[in-house]
Amino acid sequence: QIERTLVIVKPDGFRRGLTGEVLRRIESKGYVLADLHITTPDRERLARHYEEHQGKPFYEPLVDFMSSGPATFVVVEGHRCIEGFRALAGATDPTKALPGTIRGDLGRDWGEKVQANIVHGSDSPESAAREISIWF
Ligand code: CMP
Repeated sequence: QIERTLVIVKPDGFRRGLTGEVLRRIESKGYVLADLHITTPDRERLARHYEEHQGKPFYEPLVDFMSSGPATFVVVEGHRCIEGFRALAGATDPTKALPGTIRGDLGRDWGEKVQANIVHGSDSPESAAREISIWF
């Protein structure tokens, strides 16, 4: 089943020069980069993207972090790539993410209010369609 998912290389990944490394892992897995652009995310679209997290303690710091600089937005395509990219990314908490995953290999806990965890990947086909329509 061919799916599309939204991957974001977040501002921490961009600042650290890890965009190419993340894209390389996606391509090495066999997924296709169907579309891609770099932009500093605006708060209005971030509010829609993160609407399920509104009201949580990490919400405001999350929007501050995500709007802090350029990020790369990627539409990734492939068989079961929604689940597959989340496996590549590893656990949300970079300390718990297993070695071999993007967050496990490249991420760490910076002791800040938000998990600056390099990448985002949609968690379901519904989220993927919604998120792609926000950013593309
Ligand atoms: P993401 O997949 O982009 O979706 C929501 C983001 O909020 C998540 O990645 C993390 O960056 C952050 N996040 C999720 N849970 C927590 C948490 N418990 N504490 C801090 N940040 C979190």
